[in-house]
Amino acid sequence: MYKRRSVIGYSGVVDCGFFLRIFGYRDGSFSQDNAFAPPRKQMKAAILNEMGRARPYANSKPLVVEDVDLAPPGPGELLIKIKATGLCHSDLSVVNGDRPRPMPMVLGHEAAGEVLECGAGVTDLKPGDQVVLTFVPSCGNCLPCMEGRPALCEPGARANGAGTLLSGERRLRFHDHPIYHHIGVSGYAEYAVVSRRSAIKVDASLPAHEAALFGCAVLTGVGAVINTAKVPAGCSVAVVGLGGVGLSALLAANLVGAGEIIAVDTNPQKLEFASRLGATRTVKVGPDIIKEVRDLTNGGVEFALEMASSVPALQLAFDITKRGGTTVTASLPHPEHRFSIPAVLLAAEERTVKGSYLGSCVPARDVPRYISLYQRGKLPVDKLLSEIVSLEGLNEAFDRLADGKSIRQVMTFQ
Ligand SMILES: NC(=O)c1ccc[n+]([C@@H]2O[C@H](COP(=O)([O-])OP(=O)(O)OC[C@H]3O[C@@H](n4cnc5c(N)ncnc54)[C@H](O)[C@@H]3O)[C@@H](O)[C@H]2O)c1
Ligand SMILES: [Zn+2]
Ligand SMILES: [Zn+2]
Repeated sequence: MYKRRSVIGYSGVVDCGFFLRIFGYRDGSFSQDNAFAPPRKQMKAAILNEMGRARPYANSKPLVVEDVDLAPPGPGELLIKIKATGLCHSDLSVVNGDRPRPMPMVLGHEAAGEVLECGAGVTDLKPGDQVVLTFVPSCGNCLPCMEGRPALCEPGARANGAGTLLSGERRLRFHDHPIYHHIGVSGYAEYAVVSRRSAIKVDASLPAHEAALFGCAVLTGVGAVINTAKVPAGCSVAVVGLGGVGLSALLAANLVGAGEIIAVDTNPQKLEFASRLGATRTVKVGPDIIKEVRDLTNGGVEFALEMASSVPALQLAFDITKRGGTTVTASLPHPEHRFSIPAVLLAAEERTVKGSYLGSCVPARDVPRYISLYQRGKLPVDKLLSEIVSLEGLNEAFDRLADGKSIRQVMTFQ
C-alpha cells in the first residue's frame, strides 16, 4: 500500500512511488484520475456543512453521508480503518453551533480503529494494530507537553482550532474542495488519516465499540476524578450532569472509594441509571436543590464535578461545594457564556474552581490504565453503551443525544 520502494531501472535507482502514482497502487487502495494529482481513497463519510440547523435533525439533516476522498498519510501520520466512533456532546455542540468550527467538517472524535498503513517515520506502530484515537494530538515538544500536560499541547490546540491535522494538512476532500478535520480524528467515516500523536495502541482483543469510549468519555470523566480533582478515598463527591462523561466520573468516584457520591441531573431517567452505577444518592435539579444537597452533606460536598454542558449547572456545582472544597468542570458551553461567582468566597472559604480538559490525562499512560481497570471489572464502562448506530443514522442519533434519551451511542459499520 502506498509505500515507496526503490527499484533498479536502466537509469539507476528510481523512486517506485512515481510509477505507482501513474499506474496505480499495488492493492488499488489509493487511486487517482490525474498522474500529477495526489492519490486518493474514496470512502463514505458524514459531512456537516452548516452549524445550527433546526431540530429535529431527523428532518433538517445537518449530517450528509457522501463519497469523500482521503489522501494517503503524510510523514508522521496513519491511515486508520475506523471501527467505532462514539457520539459525544462535543460533536453535538458543533452541530448546534455551541462550539463553532470551520465548515464543512467530518465530525466524530471518540474513535477506535485498525492501523492500515503508517506514513513515513512511523516505526512504532504497524498495520493490524488496534488504536484508540484521542482528540488532542500532542506534539511532545512544546512546554505543556514537556511539563506532562499534553491535553494543553499548543500546536495541538492550534491544529484543532484550524480543523487540520497536527501537520497543518487536510487529507479530506469532497468534489475537490478540502474538508476540515474534527479535532484531529473525523471518525464518522470509513477511514481516517490522523497524526501518530492522536493514536494510542491498545489491546487488540478489546471490542472496538468498547475501545472507542476510552478516547473521550472515559478519559475525560475518569481523568477528571483521578488527575484533575485527585479525589481521596472517603471524600464526598457530587456529579452534576450524567451523560457519558459524568457517568464515567461517577464510576471513577466509586473506583477511588469516594464516600458519598451524589448524582445530579434534570432528567429522572439519568438519576435512576446513576443509582444502578453506584451513586449513593440522587437529586433532581429543582428550586430547593442547593439546600437539599447541603443538608444531605453537612454543608456541601468536598468535590463537585460539573459535566452538563451548561453554565447554570456549573453555578449549581459551585453552590453545592463545601467550604474548602473543589469544583471541577469539564463542560464546553458556548464561548460567549459567562460564569460568575462571589469573588470573596475564593479566599474566605478557600474554594477552588478547576477546569479539566481531556481529564488532565496523559493519553499514552492513562488509556491503557483505564482499559486495564475495565478489563479487571473495576471500571464497568460498557454499561454506558446505550445504542449502536449506523453512519446513515447519525442525525436521528444526535436527536436522541440532544433529548437526553441515550447515554453513549456508538457508530459502527456492522
Ligand atoms: N473537557 C473535556 O475534555 C471534554 C471532553 C468530552 C466532553 N466534554 C463536554 O462535557 C460535557 C458533557 O458531555 P456528555 O457527552 O457527557 O453530554 P451528555 O449530553 O451526554 O450529558 C449531559 C447531561 O447533563 C444533563 N444536564 C443538562 N443540563 C443540566 C443542568 N442544568 N443540571 C444538571 N444536569 C443537566 C443532561 O440531562 C445530560 O444527562 C459537554 O459539554 C461536552 O462538550 C468535555
Ligand atoms: Zn468528546
Ligand atoms: Zn505539544
